[in-house]
Amino acid sequence: MVAHARAGIKPAPTIMAHQPVLYQEIIHALQPHDGGRYVDGTLGAGGHARGILEASAPDGQLLGLDVDPQALTLARKTLAPYEGRTHLAQASYTSLSAQLAQLGWASVDGIVLDLGASSMQFDTPERGFSFQHDAPLDMRFGPSATRTAADLVNRSSERELADLIYRYGEERDSRKIARAIVKARPLHTTRELVAVIESVSPRRGDRVHPATRTFQALRIAVNEELASIEAVLPQAVTALGVGGRLAVISFHSLEDRIVKDFFREQGRDLVNPPYEQIYEVERKATLKEVIRKPITPSEDEIKMNPRARSAKLRIAEKT
Ligand SMILES: C[S@@+](CC[C@H](N)C(=O)[O-])C[C@H]1O[C@@H](n2cnc3c(N)ncnc32)[C@H](O)[C@@H]1O
Repeated sequence: MVAHARAGIKPAPTIMAHQPVLYQEIIHALQPHDGGRYVDGTLGAGGHARGILEASAPDGQLLGLDVDPQALTLARKTLAPYEGRTHLAQASYTSLSAQLAQLGWASVDGIVLDLGASSMQFDTPERGFSFQHDAPLDMRFGPSATRTAADLVNRSSERELADLIYRYGEERDSRKIARAIVKARPLHTTRELVAVIESVSPRRGDRVHPATRTFQALRIAVNEELASIEAVLPQAVTALGVGGRLAVISFHSLEDRIVKDFFREQGRDLVNPPYEQIYEVERKATLKEVIRKPITPSEDEIKMNPRARSAKLRIAEKT
């Protein structure tokens, strides 16, 4: 049972195959209702979107965005039964305000962002996200990304590469890895990159694979993931009507820190510096955290889907 489930909310419909991460928790967080307007900024295969549409039947509407045309094809199939209530676009969630303006929606009742890459993207070898398959070094979520992982690996300076791998991968061996990449390039495939990383940062027992952090770093950089999150959060606050909810699932500490800090900062009145004992509130708090500690998946969910292991859900309500 979800801790913050409230009486009177329609039970979240269950999806048996490919249930998205923290599915029940997202539906309870957003409390979809008939006639409500919702945004799924990271549609993927449409699992969360479908739950929101079910729970807001018969008239709830959903705007769904994804930069990945393959994700949209999947989501269109999943959401076909809800045609007429869905508005899907191949676009970045960073264009949220513009997308809502196009629809003529002045405000919405709930927004979900399920960050990062989807299982479909990880499991499609030719997308280049996984170091377990041999594929071109691509890693773009969608065609709008201006650089591939190969561009970064082959064109950045050693210093830029080391900084990127350290900052986005939190990799202690970043300098060694950057030096080895520069020496070995041009690199075109995931297997070539894995071999270079393993040559300087060998496998240690059954700890995480040495390429894990470098792959994460390249993916974040290629897709400008952190800047995108920073860009969408203020737009989400503006888009929500009072009482509307924003639910964000992150998968690593860099993403979660941005969301956590933003929620905390927006949860406080902004007071100008004290001047002659007069404090003026420059901006009232815009968000209230629904629960302070992030929600994490149950043991059962992690057993069924090991990728859920690092997921953290934070929920805030517009004040
Ligand atoms: C974890 S998956 C979402 C899965 C989805 N919740 C479901 O139920 O299937 C993340 C999705 O977000 C998409 N994505 C990543 N960055 C994006 C951005 N800036 N704008 C829109 N979509 C983005 C990815 O292409 C991927 O399909």
